[in-house]
Amino acid sequence: MNFKGRHLLSLKDFTREEILKIIETSIKEKYKIEDILKGKTIGLLFQKPSTRTRISFEVAVNQLGGRSIYMNWSELQLSRKESLKDTAMVLSRYLNGLVARLFKHEDLLEIAEYSKIPVINGLTDLYHPCQILGDLQTIIEKKGDLKKQKIVFIGDGNNVSNSLLIASSILGLKTSLICPKGYETPAHVLNIVKNNARVSNAKITITNDLSEVEGATVIYTDVWVSMGQEEEASKRLRDFADYKVTEDVVKKAAPDYIFMHCLPRTEHEVSDNIFYGEHSVVWDQAENRLHVQKAILKLLI
Ligand code: CP
Ligand code: NVA
Repeated sequence: MNFKGRHLLSLKDFTREEILKIIETSIKEKYKIEDILKGKTIGLLFQKPSTRTRISFEVAVNQLGGRSIYMNWSELQLSRKESLKDTAMVLSRYLNGLVARLFKHEDLLEIAEYSKIPVINGLTDLYHPCQILGDLQTIIEKKGDLKKQKIVFIGDGNNVSNSLLIASSILGLKTSLICPKGYETPAHVLNIVKNNARVSNAKITITNDLSEVEGATVIYTDVWVSMGQEEEASKRLRDFADYKVTEDVVKKAAPDYIFMHCLPRTEHEVSDNIFYGEHSVVWDQAENRLHVQKAILKLLI
C-alpha cells in the first residue's frame, strides 16, 4: 500500500484495504500528537463556507507539527480569473499539500492535474470523501463490524450519499438511499457503484420507499438543500416534506440503531428529539473528522 504523494479526490480511487487502513490509522492514533509535518505547510482553499472541515483540518495540521494557511477563493487572484492551472502550479511551489472545497468537482480535478502536491477533496458538488471516512470510523466504533450493518441514508443523491455509496460498494456493505422521486444518485456515480458491488457483493438499494428503514442499524441524513442549491430550496423542501427523520420514520429501525448527520443540520430533515436523542452520535461523528483528517495527512503527505 503506497499512499505518499497521492491525491484524495474520490474514494473510488482507493481499494478496500486502503480505505480500511486510513480508518484503522485514525482509530489507533487518535490522540497522538506528533511533529511529522514540522516545517511543512498545508493550504486550505475554500470556495464555500465550512465549520468542521476547515477547523478539523487546521487542528489536525497543528497536532502533526505543521502550519496551515486558509485561503478564501474570493481573496485570491482566482476571483479575478487567474486560471486553476496557474494557481495549482504556483501553490505547488509553496505548499506541501492542499485541501480544497469547491463547487465543481471538475475544478478540483483540474487543480489536481496540475498540482505537484497531494490534493485532498474537502467537499465538491459530487463527493465528500473525508466525511465518509470519518463516518465509517464512527460506525465501527459504535456498532462494530461494518458488514453486519444495514446503513440507510435518507436524503438526496448528493456529495455525501455519493461518497457513502462508493465506499459501501468497495467495502461490500449493505447500504440504501431513500429519497423522493427525481433525487436519486446520478447515473454516472451509480454505474461506478454497481461495478464495484459486483466484485464486493455489496447490497446497494436506491428507493423512494421509507419502509426500507426497517431493520436499519444506522440511519443517516443530511440537509435537503446543499450549498449552491439555494435557488431550488422551496421546491426541495416541498418534495422532501414526507422524508423528515421523526420517531414515526425510525420506529421499524433496529432497537439499537444509531442516528448520524454530517452537519450542519436544519430543522427540516430531522426532529429535535431524534437529533438530540439517545440514538444520536452526531458529536462523536463530528469529532472523528479531526482524527481521520490526521490519518489522511499522515499517510498522503
Ligand atoms: N460536515 C461538514 O463538512 O461540515 P462543514 O461544512 O462545516 O465543513
Ligand atoms: N450536502 C451538504 C453537505 C455539507 C457538509 C452540502 O453540500 O451542503
